[in-house]
Amino acid sequence: MTDQISEKKHTSGDGQSMWGGRFGAGPSAIMQEINASIDFDKRLYREDIAGSKAHSNMLAAKGIITGEDRDAIHSGLDQVQAEIEAGKMVFDPALEDIDMHVESRLRELVGDAGARLHTGRSRNDQVATDFRLWCRSAVDQLDTAYAGLLSAITEQADKHAASVMPGFTHLQTAQPVTLGHHLMAYYEMFNRDRSRLADCRKRLNENPLGAAALAGTSFPLDREQTSAELGFDKPMANSLDAVSARDFAMELLSAMTIGAVHLSRLADEIVLWATSAFKFLELSDSFSTGSSIMPQKRNPDAAELVRAKVGRIMGAQNGLMIVMKGLPLAYSKDMQEDKEPVFKAVDDLALCLAAMTGMIEDLKPNTAAMREAAGQGFSTATDLADWLVRVLNLPFRDAHHVTGTVVKEAETRGVDLCDLPLEAMQAIEPRITADIFDVLTVDASVNSRTSFGGTAPANVKQAVATARKALK
Ligand code: ARG
Repeated sequence: MTDQISEKKHTSGDGQSMWGGRFGAGPSAIMQEINASIDFDKRLYREDIAGSKAHSNMLAAKGIITGEDRDAIHSGLDQVQAEIEAGKMVFDPALEDIDMHVESRLRELVGDAGARLHTGRSRNDQVATDFRLWCRSAVDQLDTAYAGLLSAITEQADKHAASVMPGFTHLQTAQPVTLGHHLMAYYEMFNRDRSRLADCRKRLNENPLGAAALAGTSFPLDREQTSAELGFDKPMANSLDAVSARDFAMELLSAMTIGAVHLSRLADEIVLWATSAFKFLELSDSFSTGSSIMPQKRNPDAAELVRAKVGRIMGAQNGLMIVMKGLPLAYSKDMQEDKEPVFKAVDDLALCLAAMTGMIEDLKPNTAAMREAAGQGFSTATDLADWLVRVLNLPFRDAHHVTGTVVKEAETRGVDLCDLPLEAMQAIEPRITADIFDVLTVDASVNSRTSFGGTAPANVKQAVATARKALK
């Protein structure tokens, strides 16, 4: 056994290649370059080796290869894995992809036994299996990252269940809300993103292995056995579909795209809130940078980049959709272009989740500035109108009109609603009493929003308790 893997044995173009039997000459350099996927699909080595172990276990169980061959294959695969992990594998574009690198090295190590591994298998079902396994563990990693983000959000929401801030529509001050409620809105969104990934995992967890090139095989394979060993729910029912389907990857990218869109919305609010115009929060040193020329600057780079990454993730999703559109059954080489977009999008989303979790954990809200802003813009006007309905029994539309007139008066005098003298309000609606002032403060406003799902601090506390239970 050589320490350094030889570069040339079993390579294509010398009649020794995996498929060299009917070829006279080797591929041109450009053919090799456009054909090779090893640069990126080497990330599948663990999945490829696991798939080969399951396949050879099954071949031996069915008497298609001997137990000795199976054992030789397994110890060879262990060594190949160890070599890859030690950085000793020489990746050679002539060997195209990870499947051929692993098999080629296996044949060098264990000879004929290694050459029997590919019985009843094709790279088409092999790569589909590898990629599904990879996507499944990517979903599991993202799930863990989401759990971290959701609990960071929940803890901040708990701290700020009663911290009043302006709620906006059209980015105009609308009604007071609490920061806790605002954060828990993202909890709900991100939780749905997480469950979209879980749904995707259910559909992707089916086993293509045993579909062979496209039509199945004449060998008496036991596809239930390989499914069980690889943790798949069941073998895919149709061999053509098994090697052609990439909707699992498109679905994963779509779910990640929605997740990235949601992250970009929170990221944008962090950028906005950190401006000197808003001053709702201070950025922590860990997630901001300074300026090389303006000493006073603190820039929300991490938030800006989370806001931006959605472009790449959505681009990846779009890219794969276009690759797949119009492809006939079964496998086409086009489909080799499925992996890079998924790898990149998973890396990007994982990084965004980590950065967002850090930013939320470090969040330092300026509760005084938020409270002050919450009272501006006549944000309790709806509370005034509701009071007119509740206490004076005005129809809501009439109450809306009266309130509009009161707001106009306050605006003319340059005061907030709660600072408008009672007489000024009574000049518009004589039945208004001093009780009105009880509903015009921002605290009274948020405390009164106790309808299910409303912003009242008691509701936020309830939502936090529910979330904590769910996250356990
Ligand atoms: N590297 C290929 C891919 O990722 C493996 C499958 C190749 N199959 C074939 N028939 N050439 O799609």
